[in-house]
Amino acid sequence: DERGTVSVLPQELLLRVFRFLGPEDLCRCGQVCSVWAQVAKTGSLWGHLYPVRWARGDYYRGPPGESGQEPDEDWVKSLQDEGRAYQDWDEDADVDESEEASEESPAISAVQREKRLLNGMIQNLLPAVGPSVRSLSLAYSSAVSSKMVRQILSLCPNLTHLDLTQTDISDSAFDSWAEFGACRTLERLDLSGCDKITDRTLKILSLGLGDLTTSGPDHRAKLLKAPPSPINFQDECSLPPMGRSCQDLIFKRRPGGRGSGCGPAHVWVLDPSKFADIEDAADWRKRGDVSVQENGRGGSSCCCRRITHYILHGPSFFCSSLFLLQKTTAFCPYSPKLVNKATLCECECHDATLLCVCCRCLSQRGGLPLLLHLNLSGCLLITGAGLQELVSACPSLNIEHFYYCDNINGPHADEASGCQNLQCGFRACCRSGE
Ligand code: FES
Repeated sequence: DERGTVSVLPQELLLRVFRFLGPEDLCRCGQVCSVWAQVAKTGSLWGHLYPVRWARGDYYRGPPGESGQEPDEDWVKSLQDEGRAYQDWDEDADVDESEEASEESPAISAVQREKRLLNGMIQNLLPAVGPSVRSLSLAYSSAVSSKMVRQILSLCPNLTHLDLTQTDISDSAFDSWAEFGACRTLERLDLSGCDKITDRTLKILSLGLGDLTTSGPDHRAKLLKAPPSPINFQDECSLPPMGRSCQDLIFKRRPGGRGSGCGPAHVWVLDPSKFADIEDAADWRKRGDVSVQENGRGGSSCCCRRITHYILHGPSFFCSSLFLLQKTTAFCPYSPKLVNKATLCECECHDATLLCVCCRCLSQRGGLPLLLHLNLSGCLLITGAGLQELVSACPSLNIEHFYYCDNINGPHADEASGCQNLQCGFRACCRSGE
């Protein structure tokens, strides 16, 4: 009699139970049966990935910032020793290819474990949950290659945090972002100590963030490409299923406001506190009033993906130069039914056009670059010109969180925070010998 056992739990309850599990237990549960495997691959369970830590038995999976501090110096040193041992062994592999040789060395087997874990993630997990992954830390990885990073980035289009500190990657790692607007959701990027990257990476990033100022007509044409179904804000009832779902999810209806079109007048007020699990397809299905494809894939248009991202960050309004606006009230010219709190622009453009976070605006503007934190400390091959080009595509960049080598004459030289590696005992810095 199976009644009363965990095997008869509905998937929604199973998912709630799975939320309490770490990555190791989730992987084990995913091997129990096909139903559990399906639930274990729900996107919201895999929002934050730390494969380097996982490969060493630390199954942390909280959001970045909570673990926050610099890693322990001993931990980093052991990682570096493992990497060196693995490279020596790999170079000798022609001579001694036996598995036993690697098994004898804990250092080599640790890197091999990391490599297996990364390959397993790329082949089995990310194809299912990639669109839900928000943060990925590969800092200090001895096993990650440019090819792996390229594969991961192509599978995780909605990343907000990416940490590749002290890895051996080169420019080709970012080739999957070499498409206009490919990484618009990115907020934090750490490339400290990636001393092989050059201005080519900065170019790819500025393109990937949606640099309107330097893009050519072809890219602009791509940018202006309409979403799969036309969205008519004059007639709310004509919104396509996904567009309509987004509207319903973003805005809580409150009677008594101004409006036009179908139904009584309403003010739509953003309520971001309700959307922590925005991409949890199982929860939305359970509500029954929205139709969202699992993991935001398939029928989800790119503009809907962007919207789910902006929901999590509360109401945002931008001027036509993509500067964040503050404290005043205005109507978005493209969606007059939406009464929004927005503000006047602090940039130099003095353009009265305000853009609210709606499908039409996003599809017209091609997304809103959100990069706040950029760490390029120790990247010695980049130049001031390359940095300038990248910074021109980062209107949200917080200069206090902008780091690069002190010996490069780059943008915001007086206000930027300079090289971070100099203060860090275990990172290479061109000035550490001074
Ligand atoms: Fe040049 Fe640190 S890498 S100052």
